[in-house]
Amino acid sequence: MSITVLLGAQWGDEGKGRIADALASEADIVARFNGGPNAGHSINVGGKTVKLHQVPSGVFRLGCQNIIGNGVVLNPAKLLEEIEQINEAGAQATPENLRISENAHIILQGHIALDKAKEKTQGGIGTTQTGIGFAYADKAYRVGIRAGMMRDAEKFGDTVYKRTLEINAQLAAQNAEQVDAEMTGAIYTAMATQIAPYLADTSAILRDALKRGKRILAEGAQGVLLDIDHGTYPFVTSSSATIGGVMTGLGVPPQSISRVMGAAKAFSTRVGKGPMPTELDGEMALRLRGTGANPWDEYGSTTGRPRRVGWLDAVALRTAVAVNGITELALTKLDILTGIDTLNIATRYQVDGRSLDELPSDSEVLERCTPIYEQMAGWTEDVQNCRSFTELPANAQNYIRRIETLVKARITVISVGPEREQMIVR
Ligand code: IMP
Repeated sequence: MSITVLLGAQWGDEGKGRIADALASEADIVARFNGGPNAGHSINVGGKTVKLHQVPSGVFRLGCQNIIGNGVVLNPAKLLEEIEQINEAGAQATPENLRISENAHIILQGHIALDKAKEKTQGGIGTTQTGIGFAYADKAYRVGIRAGMMRDAEKFGDTVYKRTLEINAQLAAQNAEQVDAEMTGAIYTAMATQIAPYLADTSAILRDALKRGKRILAEGAQGVLLDIDHGTYPFVTSSSATIGGVMTGLGVPPQSISRVMGAAKAFSTRVGKGPMPTELDGEMALRLRGTGANPWDEYGSTTGRPRRVGWLDAVALRTAVAVNGITELALTKLDILTGIDTLNIATRYQVDGRSLDELPSDSEVLERCTPIYEQMAGWTEDVQNCRSFTELPANAQNYIRRIETLVKARITVISVGPEREQMIVR
């Protein structure tokens, strides 16, 4: 029984794509269990950059099966675009190496319109405006449309049409622009024919693969602090980005999970609204964010929004490790800290006369928390060519060891630059 889980251990954008790409080289199957096109990461293939939003990263590995699990919400138009880009880049996304759960729910144009309309109001939380929350709401409300219905394209198109009419009534009540229901029905009918060959009972495929000793990588989207239950609600996404999402989002037993890895940036970033105790502004924020000139600078890969940046938050990371049973961490973007004289790490929070060593579950309390920092000396030496832990400058080693102690997890992978090989495996 062997599933390796890779979770984002912060607020998303931890550089999971890089780590997933590396882990995929040892996997027979890569499976996505949550989220939808709100996620995104770029992969360089043969000089071309391909942005993956819904397709798992194993698609660029020959012989690797890819699964979009039932816990995902799928935008069919975006999926077809993605498949085309993958094929143009010289790889293949075919019904042989990409299987989509028939129980995954479909994102409708109406969901996107509702998301956009909500974001224009006070109630907006800074979503990616890709319809995620409304697609999951329909699922929970038991009016969602599942991918499996695509096998009967006409019925699927008709159901999409009818649900769009209902959504239009909601949009009209908000004076928001409505969706052309007839055209949407027709477009979704056409897309169903193209997507139907990819559909499968992916839980059965995964359970069978486990029986045959195959190695599976469960690739999380977003970060565990954006989890619908355990994140900084209501400033969260609408899926289970924590460990439980693997079981519900793929339909696999808990005993099949043998390794839980978390990806964390060497500092903090967050997109959208919500509390972020170690947030920085001014010079240091610009320094950590970058100008946007480089693809690895801190700008949203789906929306292009500048990310909020801050010092490493060991309180948040400690909670993420504890909630998910993370046994090892991949620390990314260590190189970005090179040249900073003094690094701060939040070790505890102070709030209402109390000192906390884990994230409070109430976002309003978190909003009032003041981080207590520990200062560490930085390093000036370039780390990008280091390929072993001992090659790192002493202060970088100290920084890493201190994080391990503070969050109670071993850091087994350290990324020191944007290229595939700029990685230290301990
Ligand atoms: P939604 O998932 O589009 O509904 O957005 C809800 C919250 O999650 C917002 O704060 C988004 O910025 C955030 N979010 C969603 N997907 C990602 C991601 O892939 N990386 C970082 N933040 C994300």
